[in-house]
Amino acid sequence: MAFPAHRPRRLRTSPAVRRLVAEVSVEPRHLVLPMFVAEGLSEPRPISSMPGVVQHTRESAKAAVAEAAALGLGGVMLFGVPLRKDATGSGALDPDGILNVAIADAAAAAGDALVVMSDLCLDEFTDHGHCGVLDDRGRVDNDATLEIYGRMGVAQAEAGAHMVGPSGMMDGQVGVVRAALDAAGHTDTSILAYAAKYSSAFYGPFREAVDSSLQGDRKTYQQDPANAREALREVLLDVEEGADLVMVKPAMGYLDVVQRVRDLVDVPVAAYNISGEYAMVEAAAERGWIDRERAIDETVLSIRRAGADVVLTYWAAEVARRLR
Ligand code: PBG
Repeated sequence: MAFPAHRPRRLRTSPAVRRLVAEVSVEPRHLVLPMFVAEGLSEPRPISSMPGVVQHTRESAKAAVAEAAALGLGGVMLFGVPLRKDATGSGALDPDGILNVAIADAAAAAGDALVVMSDLCLDEFTDHGHCGVLDDRGRVDNDATLEIYGRMGVAQAEAGAHMVGPSGMMDGQVGVVRAALDAAGHTDTSILAYAAKYSSAFYGPFREAVDSSLQGDRKTYQQDPANAREALREVLLDVEEGADLVMVKPAMGYLDVVQRVRDLVDVPVAAYNISGEYAMVEAAAERGWIDRERAIDETVLSIRRAGADVVLTYWAAEVARRLR
């Protein structure tokens, strides 16, 4: 019998050689921890569909940001959960609104150690739960929303955000936020554009996490899961409008999109390992159906392998702890 001429298994014979030839790795700096900060809580409140994730109080959020910095994470992404909502999401513009005060707290706790990012979207602040304001026929009004996004970006920069993350999928949002930031003197505040964001069933647990009021869906602004080429168009537009980084979301079902976006542009690419992806792994692990830690590490590694420079994941602190 002839010996095989090629033996790829040679490079798998020991942990040392596997480590030597690993093509990608995960480091704490690649990871961003999304965090929910709720108004009016006296202690952190567990989110039942995301075991291990909480709605933070301002105090517990500060501690979590300090821990994230100590772990060497790349950043935190903040979401606010206000007590009161209205039709135009005015809490998003209020300097004393929960998200803006949480940004200020995080910036103080983080110092220069990590990047403080903020979700720039109205859905947590509107009583109808949409990412923008509605016109008189109840449709999401793109251009009226843009004007508010511009002011929201400035409010977040003023609070201390290093990077704002427009996530509402309104046409022109990156350009408008960039112009508003620049006009207000915040030329160094960067934009992480949720460039290709799909209308996904896997956001389910997030809606509990932010006490979402949404009835219906976001299909007129978030992308159709059938479309990958369209994502490339969205990404190119955002880069042209001034995005400093672009993001694909969700991650796990959209790794083809992550890869194509990575190949297409030169700016850093982020991917958001979302709530439903988290919940699936946690639920299966709870039943003893998968090895939790291995599944988590493989999930994050796969997103990196697809081409994401930055991974937003609720497991960021845990993975960083394991890497130490
Ligand atoms: C919108 C927003 C959503 C998520 C992040 N930003 C939800 C949505 O579009 O309904 C989802 C994040 C997750 O599921 O983990 N502000």
